Amino acid sequence: MPEILLTELIEGPAVDWLSDRFQVVCLPDIWRDPVGLRTSMQDARAVIVRNQTQLTSELIESAKRLEVIGRAGAGLDNIDTVAAEQLGIAVCNTPAENSLAVAELVMGFMLTMARELPAAISTTRAGGWDRMRFNGVELHGKTLGLVGFGRIGQLVARRAAAFGMKIVAHDEYLPKDAGVLQELDVSLVGFHELLEVANVVSCHVPLTVETQGMFNAVAFAKMQQGSWFINAARGEVVCEKALVASLVSEQIGAAALDVREVEPPVDVHNTGLASMENVYLTPHIGAFTIESQTRVLKKVCSDVADVLDRK
Ligand code: MLT
Repeated sequence: MPEILLTELIEGPAVDWLSDRFQVVCLPDIWRDPVGLRTSMQDARAVIVRNQTQLTSELIESAKRLEVIGRAGAGLDNIDTVAAEQLGIAVCNTPAENSLAVAELVMGFMLTMARELPAAISTTRAGGWDRMRFNGVELHGKTLGLVGFGRIGQLVARRAAAFGMKIVAHDEYLPKDAGVLQELDVSLVGFHELLEVANVVSCHVPLTVETQGMFNAVAFAKMQQGSWFINAARGEVVCEKALVASLVSEQIGAAALDVREVEPPVDVHNTGLASMENVYLTPHIGAFTIESQTRVLKKVCSDVADVLDRK
């Protein structure tokens, strides 16, 4: 039985380093099988997960030797952190290590929407040369609304400012006099005001009881006609049915989603999202760059080793 169990595909030099010091076993598909997961965790002193493994309170309580949970990523919505804390089990995540990758994906989404890059590339590859169809728009001068102005929101703001975008942000937890607002020339506004003034709305909130479903029919109806919506945070903050309806009615002009209500999406064709030309879908790859994953795995492996060494 392993000392450290990796419950999703987690590999590379940092894992090799960890394996030289502890007995590490990677079961990349075990997250799909709750019973197998429970059995495999019985003797583990540590588990390292990505976002697909659901570490419920029952599961955490049943792992009697567990000392530390490593989360190779930022979001903790798949881990019952309250149960872990009550049992004295440390939880280490890596929010600082992958933010830049997510921010760059968001910039890529905006440029993709502005110039319809996938269609321009695929029609040209097929022999077309339709220049007039691809008369795009510029990001310069547009208003970007960042819902959530933490680490990732601020990285997006810095990059969007360099493109000449005007930036407004909404964040329940940021003080109105936070220095970063002045530094980046960002106005902090209410959620509904942001939806009303922004040409592009990008979501950067964690999944919590408060944020679940916050982008619903009411929210989309408040957005400017033809505006764009981006979500590289968590799928469950968006009501996909409401998004589809607002795309069909052309209230929303385009959407880019890296995350989905259910992952992997089970009913891609039923929602209609996947077949819409103005919808750009990616498979939760925001944090997936070589550099980001190197940082993430180095940090999570070293934090887990530190906890185990202390005991
Ligand atoms: C994160 O929370 O760090 C990203 O969504 C990537 C992931 O979940 O692994």
